Amino acid sequence: MSGQPAPRRTVLKGAVLAGAAGLGVAACSTESKLGHAEPLPSTPVSLGAADEVPVGGSKLYREQRIIVSRPAEGEFKAFSAQCTHAGCVLDKIEKQEGNCPCHGSRFDVTTGDVLQGPATVPLPAIPVKVEGGKLVAGPEA
Ligand code: FES
Repeated sequence: MSGQPAPRRTVLKGAVLAGAAGLGVAACSTESKLGHAEPLPSTPVSLGAADEVPVGGSKLYREQRIIVSRPAEGEFKAFSAQCTHAGCVLDKIEKQEGNCPCHGSRFDVTTGDVLQGPATVPLPAIPVKVEGGKLVAGPEA
């Protein structure tokens, strides 16, 4: 009779260990987001009227995950709006700095460069052109 509690203790210990392992996996999940998401469009993406991007300014196309800056009349640059740290989409641009809401990285939206970590890799550039007054970004643009 005294042997019964021992197996039960063993089972409980196993459950606690499994729970701890589960937490470990969850804590690492943000690191793998970038591997699953597509940071760059695989087909050309229409972004609407080019004049929506002010000269000397920029615009965040959050749904398309693209940032377009316009350093001068007729000159456009596009970058991925997906943070290179763990793959969150930038949420706003303030004074030409793109902000990541997840861990606070900031990027220069005129160059893609990292201004503040934890991200260390610049935002990838995306080809962009104007067609009939509308911006088209992505491959073949
Ligand atoms: S995902 Fe971590 S700072 Fe952007």
